[in-house]
Amino acid sequence: MNNVHILGFSGSLRQSSYNRALLRAAQELLPEDVTLELFDLDPIPLYNGDVEARGFPEAVVAFKERIAAADALLIAAPEYNYSIPGVLKNAIDWASRPPDASPLNGKPVALMGASVGLLGTARSQYHLRQVCVFTNMLPLNRPEVFVGRAHEKVDAEGRLIDESTRKHVKGLLEALRDWTRKLRRE
Ligand code: FNR
Repeated sequence: MNNVHILGFSGSLRQSSYNRALLRAAQELLPEDVTLELFDLDPIPLYNGDVEARGFPEAVVAFKERIAAADALLIAAPEYNYSIPGVLKNAIDWASRPPDASPLNGKPVALMGASVGLLGTARSQYHLRQVCVFTNMLPLNRPEVFVGRAHEKVDAEGRLIDESTRKHVKGLLEALRDWTRKLRRE
């Protein structure tokens, strides 16, 4: 069976972000036959249809290229005001353009998220699943990785130290690998 190459990105730009910490942990926990490349959403400007009409900004071109080159996506989604942070929604909006040539179309995707609250981004992730409908990303249903009280699970160096959460992240990566292969009919 072929390797599965995943592109991961975080909806938080903060250097000490718990969601970035989840992605770094994922890099340490990769199952066999899986590679994970991280993309930083920081340089992506706010979506503007006039800018799109003049030509996609360099950072957006790079983002779309990396999505197209990946077999699957791994999104670490924070929760802001019970929903998807603007940074993440904005990046997805750019990547979805133009709709008839969107690299998101048909892409397997796994979601995870960390927050300091108890529900660990559940509400944000369910909004993100709705976004998957129109963009036609193919989200993995299970496992769901909701990391609540993240400040107790990530140390001062930004390492995910909670063993149970590390197991969940590993399980998510294995399930995303299998989901991607299933969709490729391997
Ligand atoms: C938050 N936070 C938050 N947490 C949560 O569980 N539910 C929520 O609705 C919100 N809303 C919210 C709004 C805004 C504007 C901010 C800045 C924060 C807290 C949030 O979980 C916390 O800041 C996390 O640390 C954000 O993720 P990163 O940056 O650590 O990845």
